[in-house]
This record gives sequence, structure tokens and C-alpha cells, in this order.
Amino acid sequence: MLAACPPLVYGTAWKEGATSSLVLQALAAGFRGIDTAAQRKHYREHAVGEALLAAERARLVRRDEVWVQTKYTPIAGQDRSQPLPYSPEAPVREQVRASALASLRALHHGSRWDFSGMGAAAPAPQAPSAVDGDKATASADEPLTRPWLDALLLHSPLGSLEDTLEVWDEMQRLRDEGWVRNVGFSNIYDARIWDALLSIQGSERRPALLQNRWHASTGHDVSLLASLSPVLSPNSGGAAVTYQPFWILSGNGGLLSAPAVRSAAERLEWTPQMVVLRFVAQGMGVGGLSTSVLCGTTNEEHMRQTVAAVLGSEELEDGEMDAIRHVVYGE
Ligand SMILES: NC(=O)c1ccc[n+]([C@@H]2O[C@H](COP(=O)([O-])OP(=O)(O)OC[C@H]3O[C@@H](n4cnc5c(N)ncnc54)[C@H](OP(=O)(O)O)[C@@H]3O)[C@@H](O)[C@H]2O)c1
Repeated sequence: MLAACPPLVYGTAWKEGATSSLVLQALAAGFRGIDTAAQRKHYREHAVGEALLAAERARLVRRDEVWVQTKYTPIAGQDRSQPLPYSPEAPVREQVRASALASLRALHHGSRWDFSGMGAAAPAPQAPSAVDGDKATASADEPLTRPWLDALLLHSPLGSLEDTLEVWDEMQRLRDEGWVRNVGFSNIYDARIWDALLSIQGSERRPALLQNRWHASTGHDVSLLASLSPVLSPNSGGAAVTYQPFWILSGNGGLLSAPAVRSAAERLEWTPQMVVLRFVAQGMGVGGLSTSVLCGTTNEEHMRQTVAAVLGSEELEDGEMDAIRHVVYGE
């Protein structure tokens, strides 16, 4: 299993019927992280599970070589006309547990998984699947493996801090029980909420991840970044929180045409998009910041370019990082 979030994660939102084949393509291109959510409105979690099984069977990549992260989406973010992973009437604590268990089911197809410890709360699979019935990879003496989620994120804060903290506590319990290996947040832009959440945790209970929209309207999270870095945050206890931005390309059109990006692209013979992705991968010039690039391209050539930019050995020079940082943060 991967000990930490990889530097590059494939985003599966809005892929609908193409989810499974695009996840397979991304794995073949070199992605080793997958982002999904128990939210039918935007994601097909079950299809991600099918792709993971197909990748394993094709000997492309083993399940434990891929970081798979999903989310508990509060009811305000769900489409109630579609199947929900929990009962909306249930207390939030029960909702998050039911959602996590639905995700475990959706993301572990095939016959080698042992769900027996999940108890009565274990939900049925989200949708029937042809691959579930296929026992080709299981042998009679193959040991059953307990399923896990590499990370479970809270998709967005709930209506009250009290409910948010209760969900957070239940997520930690799931981690303590071993179903979830890391916990994190998404869509927290207010440094005061972030600090409040961290202040009730001991350093061992810190979130592993913050997944946020990277955009000028939130100052590109300038007020939060220092508290994610173990170097810049005095209260971190030395633990890093990986910053995982989305909207890197779609929300930053102006940056793509900035001279600082254009000249780096020219030197490296890269596209401007590759330069911006590399800027994020290199920590955006924030000391000690650990980042993970979230990219959901549907284009094979773009997949290759993203992998080359984020995971390749070519780097932006210090002067290029400073110049791009100046465009984004004005400093
Ligand atoms: N937590 C949340 O609330 C939340 C919200 C939104 C998204 N997400 C996650 O973030 C993931 C990414 O979403 P995103 O909104 O950032 O957009 P994206 O799906 O990564 O793509 C945005 C645009 O960039 C293009 N693109 C991507 N890589 C490129 C490359 N290397 N070169 C040129 N163009 C490229 C894509 O076009 P092509 O397809 O043509 O390449 C697309 O038009 C989602 O799939 C989801 O997992 C999370």
C-alpha cells in the first residue's frame, strides 16, 4: 500500500460512462492515484472499482500500488433524485459510516475481499456489475484481504461546525478501525475554520490532505498554505498536510498566457499547461509544502504530458518558480 498521497492523482468527476476506460488509460499512462466520491451527481465510483479490477487482471498495476481516495458528500451536495450512499434522515455520524462502506464496496470488486467485519451497516453494492460474478482471479486457497480506502475526504463542511466536527470524529474512527488509511478535507477556504479543526486535534490526528479549488477568488489559498507546511507551521508537530488543488488549468486561464509561464514553456519545449502543473508539483515556492496535482484530462496526449510534467525529472528553475509565483501571489 502507498504510504502517502502520490504527487499525481487522476480526477474522475464528470466522466460518466467513460469513467472505467479513462481510469484504465490513466493507469497505463503512469497515474498511481485516483480521486472519486460517493456522489452519483458527479462521479461513478463503481466504475472506478471496475477499472481497478481490470487493471489488476491485465497485470497493469496491483490494487495496493494505487492510491484510491473518495469522499463523504453531505446531503447538500447530493442529487436526491439519484441513489444515495446513506439515508439522508440518519444522523451525520451514521451517514459518513454508511457512505464509507458503500465506497469500500464500490471500489473492491472481485472475490478476494473480506467485508465480514463491516457489520450490519454494510450497504449493498451501488450497481450490479458483470465483473463481480467473475471469479477468475480468486483461487480456493487465496487468502481474503480486508478492503481499505487510501483516503476518505469530507467533501465540504456541513451547515454547522458541530456537525462538521462530528463527521470528522467518525472519519477518524473509521481510520482507527483500519477501513480508512488517511482522512482529509475538501473545500475549506477559511483559515479560521481550518485552524478550528486543527486545534481540536492532537498532531497524530491531523488530516493528511486538503483538496481545494485553486483560484484567484480564494487568493489561491494563500492564507492556508503556511499552516499546511511542517516548515512554516509551528503547530504542525512536524506533520505535513498534502495540498491537492483542482481547477489548476480550468480556473487559471490568465496564468497560462503569462510571460513567466510562456518563457519557461519555451525553454523546456513544453506546453504552458505542463509548466503550470509543474509549478504546483514543485510546491509553488512555499517552503516545505507537499503538493499533489489533481488532473482529470480525457485526452491521451494530455495524460502523457501531465505525467511527464509532474513525475518527470525536468524541473522549473528557481527564477522561473519565483516569476510564476509572483504572477499568482503577487510576491
Ligand atoms: N472536491 C471538489 O469539490 C472537486 C470539485 C471539482 C473537481 N474535483 C476533482 O478534481 C478533478 C479535476 O477537475 P478539474 O476541474 O481540475 O479539471 P480537469 O478535469 O483536470 O480538466 C480541466 C481542463 O483542463 C484540460 N486539461 C487537463 N490536463 C491538460 C493538459 N495536460 N494539457 C492541456 N489541457 C489539459 C482538460 O481538457 P482535456 O480533457 O481535453 O485534456 C479540461 O478542459 C475532478 O475530476 C475531480 O476528481 C473535486
